[in-house]
Amino acid sequence: MHTDKNALTDTFNRSINYLRVSITDHCNLHCQYCTPRDGKTKHTNLLSYEEILRIVRLAVELGIKKVRLTGGEPLVRRGVIPFIQRLAQVDGLSEIRLTTNGVLLEGMLHDLQRAGLEKLNISLDSLRPRRFEEITGSACFAKVWRGIEKALEMGFPVIKLNVVAMRGVNDDEFIDFARLTIKQPLDIRFIEFMPVGLAGAGQQAKFISTADIMTMIAPLGELQPIKSQRLHGPARMFKLPGAAGSLGFISPLSNHFCDTCNRLRLTSQGRLRSCLLTDREEDLKGPLRSGASDEDIRRLLIQTIINKPKGHTLTQGQKTGSCHGEMSRIGG
Ligand code: 5AD
Repeated sequence: MHTDKNALTDTFNRSINYLRVSITDHCNLHCQYCTPRDGKTKHTNLLSYEEILRIVRLAVELGIKKVRLTGGEPLVRRGVIPFIQRLAQVDGLSEIRLTTNGVLLEGMLHDLQRAGLEKLNISLDSLRPRRFEEITGSACFAKVWRGIEKALEMGFPVIKLNVVAMRGVNDDEFIDFARLTIKQPLDIRFIEFMPVGLAGAGQQAKFISTADIMTMIAPLGELQPIKSQRLHGPARMFKLPGAAGSLGFISPLSNHFCDTCNRLRLTSQGRLRSCLLTDREEDLKGPLRSGASDEDIRRLLIQTIINKPKGHTLTQGQKTGSCHGEMSRIGG
């Protein structure tokens, strides 16, 4: 059967060991680049936790090692803590991570820790309360920041802050973000803005490259490269001299990582997607609900991997790329 360790190797010899799971398309923030302009959240038919667990178990049997929960905002979905507890019991799954906007973090950290979650990715595009509100539509910077401080106090071993770098929006803060790593064991990761999706299309003027970001933080000192680790993401990692934390740069456009892409995505509505920037998806919800066997689901997982595109075609000069969906459904 398809239970050998390398079942999830695609046609370009990439080993697929990382599944990103969007558990809801709802979000308690409405970031400019993520929420569609027409703003209404459609009522959606989400996969149940039970269904997600079944898919994860089968995917882990095929070689998935790491699962990331995303959204929308994953912490707004009711029952997320017991779900994480069950996920943590899946045999063979070595890492569970969470991407959150941090709004609900402060009150949930103890439960998350008890549920077995150790590593946090927090999306934060500004350190200035007023600007945070402009970007996200919500005046809750202080809340997010308290969550981050508490996570530091509680000793979470990995706390990453993801900053989407946007020209003319937050480019005057890159140096402030980078400075945070000197005293705190935070990983600050700058992500090149992708002008894609329903809300980001046509906004390529906001793009700023990793090289330019590095130039802007150069006054803080020389960036010392850190060796990348197994199952680490596509970030290129550095440290400022003597710093407690680290700096990462994710460059989907200026230095895309398609050749080493190890990812598969499950959307909140139960579709498998093998490339963020390619709209092709495989429906799992239909088969799940009409009595598909484990073998049927495995076949669909393998099928999706086989069809994983070699790479995306989005480049700096291009208008949209081929991702037209809502990030909040796909999970970023
Ligand atoms: N460009 C870059 N990153 C994006 N994300 C969502 N939309 C975009 C985009 N257009 C990712 C970022 C952000 C998270 C919510 O999703 O990582 O922090």
